[in-house]
Amino acid sequence: MRILFVCLGNICRSPTAEAVMRDLTVKAGLADEITVDSAGTGDWHIGYPPDSRAVEAGAKRGLTVSGTARQIAPSDFENFDLIVAMDRSNHADLIELAGKEDPRIRLLREFGPDDELDVPDPYFGGEDGFDEVISLIDRHCRVLLENVSPGVQP
Ligand code: 4NP
Repeated sequence: MRILFVCLGNICRSPTAEAVMRDLTVKAGLADEITVDSAGTGDWHIGYPPDSRAVEAGAKRGLTVSGTARQIAPSDFENFDLIVAMDRSNHADLIELAGKEDPRIRLLREFGPDDELDVPDPYFGGEDGFDEVISLIDRHCRVLLENVSPGVQP
């Protein structure tokens, strides 16, 4: 199972989701079965590391938010089993890039109980936003893990 998390810039939400999900798969003993990656729909931050506020929010939880921002590529639609968008705008962009609706293109907040569907973009806010976003991502990645591997415990 290969999971790609996608946001706009690939410097805040999607690298955070990648780090959270990787940690959950390692703790569940599924690191070899579930691989994770992240990408952005936009090209502004290609080659940059994650935003320092995302790195800091991860470090407070013992997580390493790392990587180099990249833009989603056509091959990603072949290479991943699930492409998980952070918000509805990312989701719409992904459907457009794919050229069709695809059940593999999902929203992270579909995996959770609440009605809200967007992981808010923390980029233009303060540090608190990053703490809230990583908590939100963590809650939903746990549900996502349960969906792809029923019964496992991180
Ligand atoms: P991300 O956050 O999509 O979660 O990586 C953003 C990063 C940069 C910008 C917007 C959102 N930007 O407009 O530069």
